[in-house]
Order: sequence, then structure tokens, then C-alpha cells
Amino acid sequence: MTTNRWRMGFHLMPPTGWVNDPNGLCYFNGLYHVFHQYSPDWPNGSERGWGHATSPDLVHWTHHGMVIHQDIPEDANGAYSGSAYIVPGGGAGGSDLLRLYYTGNVKEPGAHDYIYSGRQANEILIETTDGFNLGEKQVLLRNADYPDFCSCHVRDPKVWSQDGSLHMLLGARDMDDEGLALIMESQDGLSWTTASTVRPTSHFGFMWECPDRIALDGFEYLSFCPQGMAELPWANDLRDQSGYIPLPAAVKLIGCEHVNPALFRRWDFGFDFYAPQTFTDPQGRTILIGWMGLPEPPFDSAPDNLDWIHCLTVPRVLTRCEDGVVAMAPAPELEQLRGEQASFAHVDSAPAQTRTATLPAHRVDIVVDGISGPFDLTLDGAARIAFADGELTLSFDDGVQGIGRGRQTRSVNVNALENLRVLVDNSALEIFANNGREVFSTRWFPTADQLDIAIQGTAEEARVWPMGDGMEGTY
Ligand code: FRU
Repeated sequence: MTTNRWRMGFHLMPPTGWVNDPNGLCYFNGLYHVFHQYSPDWPNGSERGWGHATSPDLVHWTHHGMVIHQDIPEDANGAYSGSAYIVPGGGAGGSDLLRLYYTGNVKEPGAHDYIYSGRQANEILIETTDGFNLGEKQVLLRNADYPDFCSCHVRDPKVWSQDGSLHMLLGARDMDDEGLALIMESQDGLSWTTASTVRPTSHFGFMWECPDRIALDGFEYLSFCPQGMAELPWANDLRDQSGYIPLPAAVKLIGCEHVNPALFRRWDFGFDFYAPQTFTDPQGRTILIGWMGLPEPPFDSAPDNLDWIHCLTVPRVLTRCEDGVVAMAPAPELEQLRGEQASFAHVDSAPAQTRTATLPAHRVDIVVDGISGPFDLTLDGAARIAFADGELTLSFDDGVQGIGRGRQTRSVNVNALENLRVLVDNSALEIFANNGREVFSTRWFPTADQLDIAIQGTAEEARVWPMGDGMEGTY
């Protein structure tokens, strides 16, 4: 069931198996590289390492299979998440050097809880000068190198250069079950010492995964995935959340010991989003890619015995809004996949308008501009995006073909809905509202051959394009 009506055409995914976090994002030697957590034999086997995909344009992808395996004692139970750092002129003959940092996960034999004992978290480096031929693994950090207050959960290195040093951000859980981030420092990228910790001003989850430092227009942000959040009123009963905290003006993460959890804003208000990572491309854009999945999902993402599960989001360009909110927009390159614009049939009925369109496949790009007042857009009569009374809601009529597979309702408060962009890519949906201030990512499993779109409400313009397939090279 590799080729299937539900497979994506512009959301990155491997040919078979399981994908989770994006890793090692970078633009190197003329190609975009996206590595990712990968279990190629899923649902059989438990190997966890890095898959690799490249693209010249963020649209057309080639998948190169599993490239980092769990094959040394220091990563015996998984080559976990990590990041890329490019050393300009660092390779032989003055070429650039790509460094991949990741966490080697090891579970020691014996009776352990694997939280306070029995687990190794090793930070490991792999170098490459061409992005494909990977060098020997070098183990740089072991449990004994982290501060004593850390439990065995320390992982997901993100490395960057700032103020004349290299910095490595790590997610951690301390011995009192407080989530935090560690910052290590280095001059050569090989030998690292602990520099500082970033803690919340009050308890905010027992563990922070996949931390990232983002700089937009001179303002810095800490992005991370706190675990242990289910009790919070906005958490939809989910343990795992993903969001960011803006730092005050002129404050750098490397000099910041405390962040205010009251300022935490979720990246995404949909059902399927976690573990995003960002990188800066040669045009200076900050691009985010997330995992369209969750560690402990209460809903189904592989119905009908599929031999693949999950995908990544499209690359999203980040911009800082005046109030500090980070907006996300699909990389404009995706518009290359647009076919000939299709038209909506208009049914004008005061005060609201109704528009409908039927497209031959579930792969489209919908743009609605100049929205005012209550509004809704429905796909196949079953997936509904609605704005009314200060609330923007995504909901599934699960009675229709079990289309949401357990996904029901998600919402966020907004003052108004001004515009909407909806990317439909078979079983992946990404919804960008208000120029990407509010985003909903979700999987759904439509079974109709054609896609029915119905729009109700006042809008100046609604456009829709069929989209092509940028993933042809992968399967
Ligand atoms: C987040 C995560 C990371 C870890 C990886 C293992 O989804 O748990 O913290 O490195 O996945 O696949």
C-alpha cells in the first residue's frame, strides 16, 4: 500500500515506514537537506535513526533512505534528533563542512526506570563535505558532562554561532521533574562545556524536547516542546505541546536564565504538529518544518494497514508580527506546483455568499482574501474551518466516512478572520489563517474521488489551484 490515494505530494515523507522529527535542516552545497527521525521497517522492528531527503527548491524531493543507523554502543537504542551546523571553509581544501549533531540514546540492561538511571544521552557528531558521504561518528558528550541536577533525559542538540562562540541548546528533565534547556558552549564545535540553563519562572512541564533558538528582526525566541501539559486548560488533554516564548527586546537566549511560561504560544492549533526545527537559508529566510504527528496521539494516522505513517509539514517561512507573534507562510516556491486555476461557482445570497468548486483530486491550494464577518469553508462536507463569535474552529464530521479518525474539534480565539490559505495534500491538511498568525495542521482520510469545496460568507476573492506532485522522486 505504498502508492495510495492518501500519500502526500508536497509534504515530505519517506517511501515506507515511520517518520517523526525533522533533523539537520540546512541549505548546503546547492541543495536543501532535510534529515528526519526514521524507522524504515515500521510497523515491524524498532530501529530509529536518520532518513535523508534533498531538494534543489523545497518542492521537488529525492529521498536517500536511512543514512544514520544505530550502529555504535553510544547510540545502541536510537540515533535521536539533532541539527546541522555549517562551518564555512571548514572542509579539506577550504570547502564548507557540514556538521550533524545528534543524541545517541542507550538503554542499559538491568532494572531501571530509564529516567533517573539506566539511560545514556550521548551527543554525537558526524561530519561531511558533500552532504552525502558521512564521516566517522565522534562522541562529544556523555551523561557525566551534564550538570548533576539533570536526569538521564537530555537530548536534541541545536547548534548555532553567536558572539564569537558556538552554542548547543539541549532539552532536559531535571531530577525534580522540571523541564528546562541547557546551553553548552564551544570554540571548536568538538569540546563543549556547560554555559547556562534556561528555566521557566514557574513549573512548565517535566521535560522539554527539541529546543530551538530563533532570531527574527533582532528579537529572539525559545521554541521547545514541553511534556506533561495535559492538565492545562488549553492543552486538549495532550501530554506533548509545541510552542515558543518570545524573549524581551535585546535579550539573547545565551544570556537568559528564565523565561515566562505565561507568554508561551502554540505554533499550531491543529491536531498533528510537534517537534519543529528551523534553519536560515541563503536568502536569509528563517524556515520552519514540523512533524505532522504526535508522540502519544489519541487518533489514528495509519488506517487500513498502511505500511507508512506520518509526514512533515511544508516548509514555512517565519516572520515576526509587530506584537511579537510569529506568523508562518508556506514557502512561495510551492506555488510552482500550481496547475491552471479552477473556478468557483457563485451563489450570491444576501447577506452572505456561497461559493462551490469541485476539483478532480485531493491535492489543491485554496486562497480566500478579504473575508469579513462569520465565514466557513468545508471540504467534502466533512472537514470544516469556521469563524464565528471570535473563535476559529477546525472540526470533522466524523460520521462522514470516519474521515477524522478520532480527530474532532480544535479552536483558537481570534479577533477576526481576514484571509485563509488551505493546502490539501491527500491526507495532509494545512490551514493558514490571518497571514499565518494562526495555523492548523491535521491529517484526515478522505475517500471520495473528487474534492468538494464549499465556502460560505463574505470574501472579496476565492481562488483554487490543483497542485502537482513534488515527491515523485521518492516513490
Ligand atoms: C521528539 C523526540 C525527541 C527524540 C526523538 C526520538 O518527538 O522524542 O526528543 O530525540 O523524538 O525519535
